[in-house]
This record gives sequence, structure tokens and C-alpha cells, in this order.
Amino acid sequence: MNCATRLVDIFGSQAEVARRFSLDRAVVNHWVKVGYVPARWAMEVEQVTAGQITAVEVLNEATACKPLKLKSRPDGENLIDSTLTRSIAMNPYAPSKRIGSFHPPRRTLMGPGPTEIHPRVLTTMSQPAIGYLDPVFVEMMDELKALLRYAYQTKNPLTFPISGPGSVGMEYCFVNLVKPGDKVIVCRNGVFGGRMIENVERCGGIPVVVEDQWGEPVDPQKLEDALKKNPDARVVAFVHAETSTGVLSDAKTLVAIAHKYNALTIVDAVTSLGGSPVLVDEWGIDAAYSASQKCLSCTPGLSPVTFSEKVVDYVKARKDKIHSWFMDMNLLLGYWGESTRTYHHTAPTNSLFALHEALLLIREEGLENAWARVRRDHVALKAGIEAMGLKFFVKEQYQIPQMNAAVCPEGVNEAEVRKRLLSEFSIEIGAGLGPLAGKIWRFGLMGYSCRPANVMLCLSALGSVLDDMGYPVHVGDAEAAAHGAYAAMHAEEAKSKKKRDAVKAAA
Ligand SMILES: Cc1ncc(COP(=O)(O)O)c(C=O)c1O
Repeated sequence: MNCATRLVDIFGSQAEVARRFSLDRAVVNHWVKVGYVPARWAMEVEQVTAGQITAVEVLNEATACKPLKLKSRPDGENLIDSTLTRSIAMNPYAPSKRIGSFHPPRRTLMGPGPTEIHPRVLTTMSQPAIGYLDPVFVEMMDELKALLRYAYQTKNPLTFPISGPGSVGMEYCFVNLVKPGDKVIVCRNGVFGGRMIENVERCGGIPVVVEDQWGEPVDPQKLEDALKKNPDARVVAFVHAETSTGVLSDAKTLVAIAHKYNALTIVDAVTSLGGSPVLVDEWGIDAAYSASQKCLSCTPGLSPVTFSEKVVDYVKARKDKIHSWFMDMNLLLGYWGESTRTYHHTAPTNSLFALHEALLLIREEGLENAWARVRRDHVALKAGIEAMGLKFFVKEQYQIPQMNAAVCPEGVNEAEVRKRLLSEFSIEIGAGLGPLAGKIWRFGLMGYSCRPANVMLCLSALGSVLDDMGYPVHVGDAEAAAHGAYAAMHAEEAKSKKKRDAVKAAA
């Protein structure tokens, strides 16, 4: 006898079972028909039958018949709830749903972030909580700052993670560097440049916009022309890696031009940090911000920032009151600065443990190796995508290896492809934003998500979905092209290693 029929046997009828569990009779009838009681009822079954049927028996039987799947059910159906807590039912707050523990599905995250998170980072994040001024935590903060300096390639003492996503890091830079009346040149070639303009306006600054086409990098000549016309511009801001289009701009050149005209620079390194070189000191970047959920492959919600001494001195000398209390650098220095550690806000401690571990993984791999890994997987992914007959949105020399934008072919339903990748293969890729909505797909190769296995799975799934939707693609061509690209790169690497070894031996 299975658990469902045993229940009927114990209580005499399906109707009585339904009554005991506060359920509709049809539900019990369904249990009997399918031959098991769903796993989520295990505890209640043990309780209602006073142990005659144990929870383990229900679980074992249910998982054998049907792999465990959690599902919402109406509030009040849970016997324990209804007998003990009916007077404080959830109905007024969540009418149609019984709320249980949340178990996210396993996904292959190949979009513009968040990325998959390395098991070591997840484990670290689940360590016991400690206070944000605990001496052990304070020691970890110093290490975290050092690891971030490594990622940013800077000696800037003020390099730390802001509590908040990349957008908070962006706002933090503008709030501190732009005061009312300041002229700020913002280079816009995608969504995120547009957000910078919003920030300038909200700080009371005057934005001067240097426009470039979406899909093109920021044009250094246009920036120089704008600075010539606006020699009083105090700040130049631009996005290094424009996630919305997949374009990498030449940050080194843009910063050099800004400095020629005595302007400070704010650089958005949200998608570039950890995936492509961001050489803060070598390029002379004054202020930069990033986000934890991109190439650092950590949980979202932290925004690593770095500020040159020049910026810190400027903010310290500001006579006006910075209009955001939370973001006032002068106040936050008390927590993240060099000498003191006093309360500013309650830091997200476990997320910071996680970032420490994520950065440690990058340190162990080596920053250059991380960049090279992203480049290798980009070359393979690109070979596969092009073998399917799809085109990249951005010219080769400006492509961000960790953010690959491919054009959705005429007649293919862009959203349907993403939907099917998610539902059939559990793969998430990104959609186009703003004017590119419905026109491109964005394939991320960021952090822990950037692995050959993910590249191959993604190509194979995409080929299968496109083929099924009637797009003329040869299933298997993409995988073969990607394999070929990896093989060529391995052969090249082996050749260079041989040469290096020969030089070493001769020395
Ligand atoms: C270039 C760029 N800047 C800023 C942001 C905003 O970051 P967040 O979503 O973490 O607030 C993003 C997010 O994708 C981004 O790609």
C-alpha cells in the first residue's frame, strides 16, 4: 500500500482524509490516483496520523515517484497552520499564496549579470554573522581593501565597497564630485551614460553631453572638441564597458584628454572590472565604481569604488553640504577610511565576507589570467555564434569579451528564444535595452560563469532552440567551431610556451 491509500485506510474514506487535512476531496482523490502523497505534505502526514505514517516514508515515496518540486498552495491548507495559527492567518497579507522556504532553481547565468557564484564564495557567505566592528571583521575589511586595490590596480588608500549595487556606486561618485552649478561632460553611447546624465542633473550640475551611436565607442575627438568648447568643465564621465551594447571604450585615452583640460574623471567600470584591464593608477583615473555581481562574480549589492587622493582632498575641502547623508564621503571615511572604524551604517557583513572570497579567487587565479580566460571563452563563443550565421552587434576591435551582443535575425522572435533557453535549458541570457530591445541578445562571460562548459552548453542550446523555431542553422556547427577555436588557442599557447622555455633554457 502506498501512503495515499494508507491514509484512506487509517481514516476510513477519502472524504475523511480531506477533512483532516482541510483539503478539497478532489486533492485526496488525486493522491490516490497518482499513488503517492506529494513531498510537501510529509510533516503534516506524520502529525495527523500521529506517526503511523512517518514523514520520511512520504518523502521517500514521493521523490521516487516524482522528483521534489516546491509549489505554492493556498494559505490555510496546512493543517499545522490552520489548527494553531488560524487567528493570525496570512490571507490579508498574501491572499493567494502559502509562503514556504524559497529554493531557487539551478540556472546557467550567461546574461549581463548577476553571474553564477563560485561554491567557495557561497560557503563563505553562509558563515555565522559577526558584528561590523568586530576586530576580526575589521581585519578582514583591511584585506578586502587590499584585494580591491589589486583588482583596480591602484594604490589609492580610499578603495572600498559601498553598500549598494552599481547604481549606488555611480551616484556616490557624482554626489561627491559634482556640486550645484558644476559643468560635467558626460559621454553617452548607451543606457548607462544616460544614467550618468540623470545623476549630474540631480546633483544640480550642468551636463554637456557627448553623443556617440549605440554600438560605437566614445569618440576621443568628440570629447576633446567638447572640452575645447567648455574649458570650465570640472568633470568628465564615461562608461568604460557599455553593458547595454557590448562596446569597450578607450579609457586610457579619454582620461588623458580630460586631464589635458584639468577635468577630473569618473569612470564606470561596472562590467570591465575583473574581466578586462582597468588600470586605475597607470591611466590616472580619478574616481571609478563597479559592481559585485559582474566579473567579480559575487552576490549583488556591493559596489567597489576607488578615489584618488586628489578627489579625497577635493571632497574634504568642499564648503557646501553634500546633499546625501548616506553618500557623503567625509562621513563614510569614519568607517572605511585609513585610521578609524566608527559606526556609519550597518555594513552587510556576510556579503562582504563573500566579496573577500570572490576577490581572493581572482587573486589566486591572477588578474591577467582572469582577463585571458575571458578572452579565450569570448573567442570560442564568437566562433560558435558566427558559425550559426548570427552577427555581432559591435565591430570586432571594440567588443567587450565579457559582454557579447549578437543581432537577432529578421523574423526570429527574440523574447521567445530567451524564454525557451530558460524554460528548456535553464540558461539565462540578456535582452537588448532601450532602442535595442527585441533586436539583440546579450551573452555574458563574467567571472565564474565564464567557463568553457557554459560556452558549449549555451551554443548547443541556442542552436537547438533556433533550429526548432525554423531558423536555418546546422545543429552542431556552432559547437564544432567553438571546439576548433579552443584547439587553435591551445596549440598557440603550447607553441609560445615552448618558445619561452627555450629562451629560459638558453639564458
Ligand atoms: C555599465 C553599468 N553601469 C551601471 C550599472 C548599474 O549597476 P547595478 O545594476 O548593480 O545597480 C550597470 C548594471 O548592469 C552597468 O552595466
